Amino acid sequence: MDACLSARWASIRLYHDSFSIQKRQNMNSTTSQQTPNRNTRKLALYGVGTIIVVFVIMQFVRFFVPEFALDNPPVTNTVAWDSPETEALWKTACADCHSNETVYPWYSYVAPVGWLVAHDTHEGRDKLNISNGSRIELDEMIEVIEEGEMPLPIYTVMHPDAALTDSQRTALVEGLRATFGTTSTHTTPVTSTNNDDDGGDHDEDDD
Ligand code: HEC
Repeated sequence: MDACLSARWASIRLYHDSFSIQKRQNMNSTTSQQTPNRNTRKLALYGVGTIIVVFVIMQFVRFFVPEFALDNPPVTNTVAWDSPETEALWKTACADCHSNETVYPWYSYVAPVGWLVAHDTHEGRDKLNISNGSRIELDEMIEVIEEGEMPLPIYTVMHPDAALTDSQRTALVEGLRATFGTTSTHTTPVTSTNNDDDGGDHDEDDD
């Protein structure tokens, strides 16, 4: 049995060797370097294929990872703007990241660019969101506008209108002051969240 098997192996080996020799000869004589070429092409094809597959999978991430969702939660706070001009300036320069009325441009639907957009939008809303009235602080708004911190520089690259001129900046600051400055009747800040914080003093709201 063993002898029979090894004999068979030997013959397979022989056949294989002669085949490769023949192949090598063919290669040398006619089309040299055909095999390496084909291998390179195959590798490149696998590489491109992998990239395409990964890219396609990336497009679905935003449906499963809230951090990257291109969402617009419900608007629960309406702002009584002092003028249509202020509202327009706000919409141009700030609303996409500080409200729930974000206008997502086409490229935000393409990952990974969209991940960046979603991340900035969510982080911006966490800091200030006029659509639910959270953290509307006039002094902070004025400060970041006057110091040129906001809108974020990366935003103005794709939204050149949002790169405010000096006079637009002044107008927005004045408008925000007129809108949010005196009273807070036009907003409904979320304050009563520390329900389980018994013993804390509650006199901060006394005006
Ligand atoms: C591209 C998105 C984007 C735009 C547009 C944008 N912001 Fe922001 N904003 C953010 C992000 C992200 C943060 C939090 C990180 C930071 O402070 O840099 C933030 C933070 C803030 C804060 C809090 C700052 C602090 O120190 O906590 C204020 C106030 C603010 N933005 C106001 C504005 C105003 C006013 C405009 C329009 C002139 C504006 N933002 C435009 C994304 C944006």
